Amino acid sequence: MKAIRGATTIRQDSPEEIRAAVKELLCALSEKNGLSEQEMICILFSNTADIRSLYPAKAAREAGFTHAALYSSLEPEIEGALPLCIRVLILAETEGPVSHVYLRGAANLRKDLKKFSVALDGPAGSGKSTVAKLLAAAHNILYLDTGAMYRACALKAMKEGLKQFDEKSVRPLMDSLDLRIEYRDGKQHTILDGEDVSEAIRRPEVSMAASDISALRCVREKMVEMQRKIAAEQSCVLDGRDIGSFVLPQAEFKFFITARSDVRARRRYDELKAKGFVVDLANLQKEIEQRDENDSRREFAPLRRAEDAVLVDTSDMTIDEVLSFIEKKIQEKV
Ligand code: DC
Repeated sequence: MKAIRGATTIRQDSPEEIRAAVKELLCALSEKNGLSEQEMICILFSNTADIRSLYPAKAAREAGFTHAALYSSLEPEIEGALPLCIRVLILAETEGPVSHVYLRGAANLRKDLKKFSVALDGPAGSGKSTVAKLLAAAHNILYLDTGAMYRACALKAMKEGLKQFDEKSVRPLMDSLDLRIEYRDGKQHTILDGEDVSEAIRRPEVSMAASDISALRCVREKMVEMQRKIAAEQSCVLDGRDIGSFVLPQAEFKFFITARSDVRARRRYDELKAKGFVVDLANLQKEIEQRDENDSRREFAPLRRAEDAVLVDTSDMTIDEVLSFIEKKIQEKV
């Protein structure tokens, strides 16, 4: 169950204005949150005391929102309050991130809700995906794991039996690629050719293949286009190698997360071991260093710290410490 907020304003107190504003607000809330009317359990309105010609709850019922319990109340007159304002709180049967919606003059009420992107770049095992997930959950926004997308491309090429990845053999795969990123219960699912490959792409052999295939321009162009589209639609945290430097150079917040390679190898080792994979720590460190080299030296959009990204070395930090450091930096800038 989630609580979703919204507000809007009208130009004058008339039933027509209230009907139009309430309908616009509820439709925007449903659309942004992918909510059907059936999933809304109750819709609670309040309005400023200068609105008296129609209950917003009645306007909602007239607009077809009849499934939820509807309620309206009048706010006290507060000096300096935004006039002619209708506020809403929806309780809905939904999981995952929610988008609050502030329309017309009400957008000024919540400057903090402006759409924003957080770019978290860094090498494998730096802890960026753990931080990204926690950060997105704390802000109730989307987390996009861009590495998963390159991993899916690698898996596709492996399934097609490609031994070597070059522009000529991979381009046709990219042209017909059926890759979708879906969110269920707040978790990212990577769907390749209709199949959920979220687990399969984590196999150790896919890691190196992903690093190799991600160096190809035809792969990056396709993935970056998808990533920019997702980020344009909502606030999100994206982690990867080139988010702050290439995918979203205008991201409001940029961090470059790193750690010593031995620490990163140990983290990956623990992670893989917990999943039941048998791996050798020394080999893993070598592979991680090889991947760093691959990812940093490729010609097109390499792993690079954007000039304006805050550097975070997590070698001797706990996840909580990393998270509060990043959160503090974000709050300083808001
Ligand atoms: O973050 P990861 O280990 O899941 O990423 C797998 C590979 O994909 C990584 O070695 C490099 C590549 N990648 C990339 O080139 N650009 C990104 N934004 C994310 C990942």
